[in-house]
Amino acid sequence: MRKPVVLITGANGEIGHGLIDHFARAGKTNIVAFDLRPLDAKLQPLVTANVAGDILDAALLQKLADEYEIREIYHLAALLSTRSEHAPELAHRVNVDGTMNLLKLAQDQSRAVQRPVLFLFPSSIAAYGLPSVEAKHQAGRVRESDWTTPTTMYGCNKLYCEQLGRYYSDHYRQLAPEAGACGLDFRAIRFPGLISALTMPSGGTSDYAPEMIHAAAQGKPYACFVPERAQIPFMAMPDGVKAILQLAAAPAARLSQRVYNIAAFSPTAGEIRDRVLAAFPDARITFSIDRPRAAIVDSWPADVDDSAARRDWSWSPDYDADRAFDEYLIPAISEHYRAFAA
Ligand code: SER
Repeated sequence: MRKPVVLITGANGEIGHGLIDHFARAGKTNIVAFDLRPLDAKLQPLVTANVAGDILDAALLQKLADEYEIREIYHLAALLSTRSEHAPELAHRVNVDGTMNLLKLAQDQSRAVQRPVLFLFPSSIAAYGLPSVEAKHQAGRVRESDWTTPTTMYGCNKLYCEQLGRYYSDHYRQLAPEAGACGLDFRAIRFPGLISALTMPSGGTSDYAPEMIHAAAQGKPYACFVPERAQIPFMAMPDGVKAILQLAAAPAARLSQRVYNIAAFSPTAGEIRDRVLAAFPDARITFSIDRPRAAIVDSWPADVDDSAARRDWSWSPDYDADRAFDEYLIPAISEHYRAFAA
């Protein structure tokens, strides 16, 4: 009999770290961690198997499907927005073709075991695109159905993959239903910028917030690439992980949509700088604008409407801006680099 497992792709990334850590604490270790690079040594004891490979390698995915009964998939692997603009065709392959491979795998698994496979997909604020800073500020808290005209390859990829998830869950092979008896249960969250005290993002456009805080904690200077007025929603990583777990656990009957916004706090870059300076008065933070990256941030909403998540699966963040900085980011980052230096 094949062993039932949870598959996490992009397991080495920031959300992967938080998720694996949480599952281990909850006693859930039937995890197959999948990433291009071998799993972080600290996480290895927390998982059943650690597979280094490419989500574009269909033969490798088939091998996994033959070996395990995959009941849940957390498909975290992706090229983030800045990196995707530098390599749009590669981004499309990884972010879209890779997701297709995983959706197909989930579909095949659900058919083989005749039970739904849960598919959790981190979508992004990048799925939105507002045409100007004026429109952005007039739009206020953007709903899931509004302004879905992304300006980045990454945003286009995420938006399209949300649609693919809906297709595979609700309409797969509608002209040959006997061939596609479907049990895929696709659920997605449009994440704001995530800030972790323990890991750093790479290749994203919301990276200025974590970069600013981590640089200050290490006594390094930082030149922020967006202007002080730039504003998008952010969230502390523990809330990001909590949201994934809550949405995964929600009874299907309570979900009125497949894709949800979530929000926590929405500071400008200048406000982040002020909070960092309050905690690290010697921090050397300057602003040196990278126009294309700043334009991407300007195209994302200043805030999002998360009332559907609040209503359907009782979403509520634990960390507002004060708690995120005072009780999580500043103490945990300081401790992280103290331990690192010791
Ligand atoms: N953090 C992501 C990025 O900046 C947005 O989802 O690309």
